[in-house]
Amino acid sequence: MNMAQQTKVHPLAHIDWDHVEFYVGNAKQAAHFYMSAFGFDQTAYAGPETGVKDRVSYVLQQNDLRFVLTTSLVPDGPISDHVRLHGDGVHDVAILVQDVRAAWKAALDGGAEPLLEPTVYEDTSGSLIRATIKTYGDTVHSFVQRDGYRGIFAPGFIELRRSLPSRKPGLTAVDHCVGNVGWGEMDAWGEFYARVFGFSQLVSFDDRDISTEYTALRSKVMTDPRHQVKFPINEPARGKKKSQIEEYLDFYRGSGVQHIAIRTSDIAETVRALSANGVEFLDTPESYYDMLAERVGRIDEAVETLRGLKILVDRDDRGYMLQIFTKPLQDRPTLFFEIIQRKGSLSFGKGNFKALFVSIEREQERRGTL
Ligand code: FE2
Repeated sequence: MNMAQQTKVHPLAHIDWDHVEFYVGNAKQAAHFYMSAFGFDQTAYAGPETGVKDRVSYVLQQNDLRFVLTTSLVPDGPISDHVRLHGDGVHDVAILVQDVRAAWKAALDGGAEPLLEPTVYEDTSGSLIRATIKTYGDTVHSFVQRDGYRGIFAPGFIELRRSLPSRKPGLTAVDHCVGNVGWGEMDAWGEFYARVFGFSQLVSFDDRDISTEYTALRSKVMTDPRHQVKFPINEPARGKKKSQIEEYLDFYRGSGVQHIAIRTSDIAETVRALSANGVEFLDTPESYYDMLAERVGRIDEAVETLRGLKILVDRDDRGYMLQIFTKPLQDRPTLFFEIIQRKGSLSFGKGNFKALFVSIEREQERRGTL
């Protein structure tokens, strides 16, 4: 009997983000974009030169953030199929676990659909264990165990460092990773994370919270006991016109990752650096700042600074948080990033949804999809 069984601690109770793998049409160019615009450094590479024949992957890092950009070198197969159907997007939200085999067993006991059973990968830097289960759409979760591995990323990769002369925005870690799922599917996916990961519900919003005159959505946030890994799940709700979630589902051709929220400890400096690197953010209506002090009370930042940078603020009973959203990161209006600075708050920006949606709808109107 192992420790987890003795203490009844769920094998996925002590987890962290490991990496996010994107399947893209041109990993070399995507890597350049995420390095020049978002300040990542390349640390590792896999491809024909390292013995991987059918794909290339670039590993990008910034503090505790690790992204992997992968492109197929062949016309058929799962990577090409993913890119043809979805465009560039997130394939794997990989989770660092202490014991892959225990995590795998708990996940399958909870009803997860298996894709890769626990597999040991070895090179001269040690051994890394990995297993993969399916989640919404064509998205997957790998469980990664690194305690026996000292290499740069994983067997099959070589250390290959490269930096570009962009401004460093000081992005530190993933805060949460949001999935968009189909009509009426939110509750089932919330239950999936409860059964498979042992997660509990942190918060939920419905269309009374998140709606404008035209569009609406419902959202539920699932999290681990330490609030380290948070998975909000969105589903569309009825509005007078097409919601941003429906637009996503149409362009992505199904469920998938909508946004990755990335933490910073100084959002104003981060937004200045990203803007200097050419990152485009959603606009915020001027009127938002007129009512800000009234809505959130005393904050450390000057309202004029936030107004100038279009940063949003929300408060809950524990503190406040600052956030801003990028425009979509690829041609399809699907995946985007959120930049977030938490000052005690566990909020996901409920108080900002309305102001934000007005802004998103303006962009949808310009694309003719509202
Ligand atoms: Fe978010």
